Amino acid sequence: MIANLKLQGGGMTDPVWLYTEGKPTQSLTDWVRETGIPLYWRCGQGTCGACTVHLHYPDEATPRIIKLSGKERNVLLRHGKLTAEQHAAETLLQTPQLWRLACHVMVQSGEMLEVSW
Ligand code: FES
Repeated sequence: MIANLKLQGGGMTDPVWLYTEGKPTQSLTDWVRETGIPLYWRCGQGTCGACTVHLHYPDEATPRIIKLSGKERNVLLRHGKLTAEQHAAETLLQTPQLWRLACHVMVQSGEMLEVSW
């Protein structure tokens, strides 16, 4: 499985591109864990809220409709990264403004993904 990731955050002055191979079930934090890129995480299980990121899929003309897990919604709400209205919604549009937990984002084969934090 190959993914093309553009990452920028944590004080990085320029984005880093990763064109890399991984396992089909890896989360975004798994993909970048050993690269030295300062994408912060702690628990890796969606409870601490340390890994919040913005996602952008530049190859997709329309935003994805996503369903966040209850765990991800609760953590994002607790950290002020989701409104009460978003928390209550059954589905959300995956826009670049929406906060996500990197440890809950599964990277799909072949997709182009821009990540900022
Ligand atoms: S690493 Fe703790 S919520 Fe993602």
